[in-house]
Order: sequence, then structure tokens, then C-alpha cells
Amino acid sequence: MQSNTRGDAFRITTFGESHGPAVGVVIDGVAPGLPLDAATVQIQMDRRRPGRTGLDSPRAEPDRAEILSGIFEGMTTGAPICIIVRSVDFRSGDYGNLKDVFRPGSGDFSWLAKYGVRDWRGGGRLSGRETVGRVAAGAVARQLLDRRGIRIQGAVVEIDGVRAQAWDAAYAETDPLRCADPAVSPEMIRRVQKARDEGDSVGGVIEIRVEGMLPGMGDPVFRRLDADLASALMSIGGIRGIEMGDGFAAARLHGSEFNDSPLPGGGWATNHAGGALGGISTGQPLVLRLAVRPTGSIGKPQDTIDRHGQATTIEIRGRHDPCLAPRIVPVAEAMVACVLADTLSRQAGIARVEPTADEWALEIDRCDEALLAALARRVEVSAARDRALGAVSPRQRKTVIGLPALRSAWARRARELGLPRELVRTILDAILRPSEG
Ligand SMILES: Cc1cc2nc3c(=O)[nH]c(=O)nc-3n(C[C@H](O)[C@H](O)[C@H](O)COP(=O)(O)O)c2cc1C
Repeated sequence: MQSNTRGDAFRITTFGESHGPAVGVVIDGVAPGLPLDAATVQIQMDRRRPGRTGLDSPRAEPDRAEILSGIFEGMTTGAPICIIVRSVDFRSGDYGNLKDVFRPGSGDFSWLAKYGVRDWRGGGRLSGRETVGRVAAGAVARQLLDRRGIRIQGAVVEIDGVRAQAWDAAYAETDPLRCADPAVSPEMIRRVQKARDEGDSVGGVIEIRVEGMLPGMGDPVFRRLDADLASALMSIGGIRGIEMGDGFAAARLHGSEFNDSPLPGGGWATNHAGGALGGISTGQPLVLRLAVRPTGSIGKPQDTIDRHGQATTIEIRGRHDPCLAPRIVPVAEAMVACVLADTLSRQAGIARVEPTADEWALEIDRCDEALLAALARRVEVSAARDRALGAVSPRQRKTVIGLPALRSAWARRARELGLPRELVRTILDAILRPSEG
């Protein structure tokens, strides 16, 4: 069973291989009437495109998004949306020497073990090029989320052990490595260039923040929001770990340090959990971090085996990213957008059903019945008390039950419950009358 599809209500299916004629996505479940055109999708495609900075793969694909279906006069129609991107700059010859060899750290071996046949050109379906379809779907999902004021922003916060100390998302958009901190970006660039010049690669960490979150998104058990996000993000090639909020650091905190407290006027004191508790969003920003491995395809000679099990050495040519993290930022944002669009759409399906007029009347009857039952119980207990204590005069009874104290307790309770004072006083008098009589 293959799994090229993800999501229930906002469902995406990606298709295409690195060196095939096109890659793309089919998106089903998008509500009609959403403004959408190719230019909106193109903005995100351009953010993912390689060959822009000199620090990524020089493969020069224009990545022009073509919308084949589901849009009419700039609006979604409710029909499946198919978006494709045609590939133009592929050189399969670069990969000829890899045809019968398993690249270390790649999916070459495991793919062949599973399918017995392999498209060896540029990684085939395992290539980062598959993520074109994800980013196109993310652009559509973002349109849905924009309407609810939900904004997603990602940036690189660590490369080769060099860590960002600041978060400047606007700056990250202009940085060649999408680094969130202008102060450490030059050192990160130096590390990436050095790795590339040595025929090597480096890893990094991406942070994704989602502002404008609504509380109540996500299901509490198997579709926890954090579980859904982690599964979607781990489905991106090259991701080796996901953290939410304090993540692994939470394991070293005490409960008194970790617990997030809601504040009386709304909002929260802290956000150690990263925006979801019990698998359901709290309305706080979502904060996620992704560990990105060093790129598998490196120029340095590496020992491996061929498909006949014979030892061999390979040097990988072709065009690769010496650090995957900056390339993966728009892909990770897109996956978060798809999960949230799916969660929002599923949420619409569980909208509370308001009772009918008959159901309201029935509920009020139930309350009256409960009142009568309580009254009957009270009469019963009073009679039992009289039997136990013997007949006492009404004057003595008042003393026994502490009438003034009872009246003021009822008045206080009525205030707390927001009940009309007069109504409560009248009921108390009516209940007490027989015993006073
Ligand atoms: C946008 C993007 C670009 C990628 N570029 C490369 C690349 O140039 N070379 C490479 O070896 N892997 C690249 N990868 C990672 C591989 O797809 C991934 O490492 C491979 O499929 C093995 O999967 P795994 O690392 O999750 O085990 C890229 C991934 C993404 C998302």
C-alpha cells in the first residue's frame, strides 16, 4: 500500500519524480469561493526554488506553477485542484555512475529492498523535488488560514552548531540561509561554503512559529495536533527530529518550571508546551523545531556496495544542497499549513448542533422534575428529623435550624449563582412555612 496522500478534509496527493517531466499535487476538499490564482502559488514556489543563493543546489528550475483544475475566474470551485510544475533543467547523465550503486545515507538501498525497481535519476521519488507539490498545496492552505488570521513563519536557527540568538522573521526572508539572526548568519555562511568546498555537507535546525492560533484545534487521542504536525513534518526527507515548545529540554525541567498557567483576563503566563495541551491548541503560538540532517549526497569519496553486494567507492557528482535546512523552511511551513487547514476543515464537521424548541422544553421539564424531587426529599428528611428529635414547638424549631443564618446563607448563595434575590427568598419562605406552622 503506497502513501502519497495525506489529510482527511483537506487532502493532498503529490506525484512526480526528480527527473520526470513534471511534479505536482492534487488537492481535494477545498471549499468553493476561495480567491486563488497561479501568482499566489508562485510566491511560495519561488521561496522553495533552488539555485537562487549560490549556497544551495545550482539546479536552475523556473518552477512555474500551472493550475490545471478546480479554479474558475480566480476562485476555487470546490472541485479537486491540480497544480503541476514542469521540470526543464534535469541532467540524468550526472547520475549514470549511481545506477547500480547505493549512495551512503540515501534511500537507494531501502527503496530497492521494498520495490525491486528504482528510478535512480536524482533520487527519483525520494528527491527533494517531490516537495514542489507540498509547497503548492501549502500555498492553497495558507489562503484558508489567512482568512482566520493564522500566520506561519519559519527560519533557520542553527547550522553546523552555530546557533541564532535572535528571531527576526522578516530578516530571515532576505538571508541567503534563511537565518533568523543577522549577527550569526555570516558564520553560518562560512561553515556552509567550507563544507561545500570540501565536498561535504552540514546539518541544521529550523524553527516554525504559528501566530494567530485559535484555541480548540486538534483531537485529543489519535489525531492530537502535536502528533499530526510531527507526522507531517517527519514526512519531509532529511528530517531527523521534531520538538514542540521546550521539546527535549522539558525532560530536564520540574513541573513548577514547565507548567503553563492561563491568566484571568485571557492569555497565558508562559508557552513551554508550544501551543497545544492535551493534543488541542490553547490559542498560544505554535512553536516547532526540526532537526535537519547533513545532506546525503557529498563529493567526498565514500565506501559502499553495488547492487550485487560488491564493495565499491563512490564520489557523488550532480547538483546538491550542502545544507538542506534553508531549502526545507518553505516545505516545513507548507506541511504545517496543510495540517492546520485539514484540522480546521475537520473542526467545521463537528460544529455543535443547537437543540430544537422541543428539546429546550424537555430540558426545562427535567430541571423542574429535579426541583420537585429535591423538595420531596426535603419533606422526607424533615419528617425523619421530627421523628428522631420528637415534637418541638415552631419557636424551638427556628432555633434548631438557625433560621436567620439560613436566610443569609441562601441570599449569599443566590448572589453567587446569579439568581433573583426575591425569587430565592419567596421559595425559602414557602418551603419553611409548613414547619413554622
Ligand atoms: C527541498 C529538499 C531538497 C533536498 N535536496 C537534497 C540534495 O540535494 N541531496 C540529497 O542527498 N538529499 C536532498 N534532500 C534530502 C533527501 O530527500 C533525503 O535525505 C532522502 O530522501 C533520504 O531520506 P531521509 O534523509 O529522510 O532518510 C532534500 C530534501 C528536501 C526536502
